[in-house]
Amino acid sequence: MKQEEIKAILDELKRTKLQTEEEIQAFKAKYLGKKGKISILSSFMREIDPKERKSFGEELNQLRSEAEELYQSALTKLEEARLEEKLQKESIDITLPATKIRQGAPNILEKLIEEVEEVCMSMGYDVVDGPEIEEDKYNFEMLNIPKGHPARDAQDTFYIEGEEILLRSQTSPVQVRTMLKGKGEVPIRVICPGKTYRRDDDDATHSHQFMQIEGLLVDRNISLSDLKGTIDVIVKKLFGEDVETRFRPSYYQFTEPSVEVDISCFNCKGKGCSICKKTGWITIAGAGVVHPNVLRMSGYDPKIWSGFAFGFGAERMAMLKYDIQDLRVFYNTDLRELKRFDRKEKEEND
Ligand code: DAH
Repeated sequence: MKQEEIKAILDELKRTKLQTEEEIQAFKAKYLGKKGKISILSSFMREIDPKERKSFGEELNQLRSEAEELYQSALTKLEEARLEEKLQKESIDITLPATKIRQGAPNILEKLIEEVEEVCMSMGYDVVDGPEIEEDKYNFEMLNIPKGHPARDAQDTFYIEGEEILLRSQTSPVQVRTMLKGKGEVPIRVICPGKTYRRDDDDATHSHQFMQIEGLLVDRNISLSDLKGTIDVIVKKLFGEDVETRFRPSYYQFTEPSVEVDISCFNCKGKGCSICKKTGWITIAGAGVVHPNVLRMSGYDPKIWSGFAFGFGAERMAMLKYDIQDLRVFYNTDLRELKRFDRKEKEEND
C-alpha cells in the first residue's frame, strides 16, 4: 500500500538528522530529487483508487512539504554555522595596541607653487606646461637671444645633443610655445611652473635643478603698470597685505623695459635684518614688458599686441616664506626637515 509507504517515509524523516553539506545534499536527492522517493510515490497517483486519491494527494503533499522544510532548515542552520565561524575567525581584537600611521605632508615647494597658481587662476590665468628637454630655438633664439650672444653665458646650459637640444635653463620658452599656439590671434594669460636646469655647483643657494614660475600676459594696451598691479596681488597674497613691491631697472633680452622685482622685507618690515641683508628689500623675480621682437617672432604683431612677463624663483620664494637656509632641503627627503616645515606652517595658521 502506497499510503503505508508515506507513513514509513514520514517516520524516516523524523529520525533523520542533517548536519553536513553532504548529508543535506544526499537527503535532497533521496527524497526530493526527480528520482527521489517522494517523486516516485507521486507517479503512482493514477493507480490509486479514485476514492482515496484525494487524501493520498494531501498526504503526499504534506510529506513533500515536511521533507522540504527539513531540507531548508538544515541548509539555513549550516549557513548560519559557517557565518558564525567566519565571524569568529575574522574578529578584531580592539584591545591590541594600534599601529601608528605616519601622517604625510605636502612638499613645501609644491605648496608654494600651488598658492601662486591659485592667485593667478583667480585673475584668469591658465596653468600650462612645457617640455624640460627643449630646443635651443625656444629656450634662446625666439627669446631674442641669438647664438653667440653674451646673454647666454649667464645661463650655463646643459646641452644634450649638439647645439640644438638642451635642458631648459629657464621656463621662458613656454612663453614662445604659448604664443605660437595662439597664432597671433588671441590674448594670452598663462603661468607655467616647472623645473629648470643650469650647470651650477650645488650649495646652500644654488642647485643644478630648480623651479621657476613663469608668467605671460599678452593683450592690447598692456603696460608696465599692469605688470606692477599683477605682481602686487601675487606678492600680497603670498607674503602678507602690508608687503610692498618695487621695480628696479634690469636687463633681459626678451623684455624691454626689464625690471627686477623687490618686495619690502616681510620679516623686519623694512628696518633691515638678516633675511633682507639689512637693505629692507628682497628680490624675488625678473620681469618686464615683452620685447617687440619676441612678439613678432612668435606671430604676435607688436603694433596690435603688447604684454608683460615675469619669472619667479620658486625655491627662493619658499626659502623666504618658510625661513629655510639651505636650498638642498627641498630635494632631499630628510623627514626631520619636512617636519620642520609642518611646524612652521602650523604656527602660521594658529
Ligand atoms: N628667465 C629669466 C631667468 O631665468 C627670468 C625672467 C626674467 C623671466 C624676466 C621673465 C622675465 O619672464 O620677463 O633669469
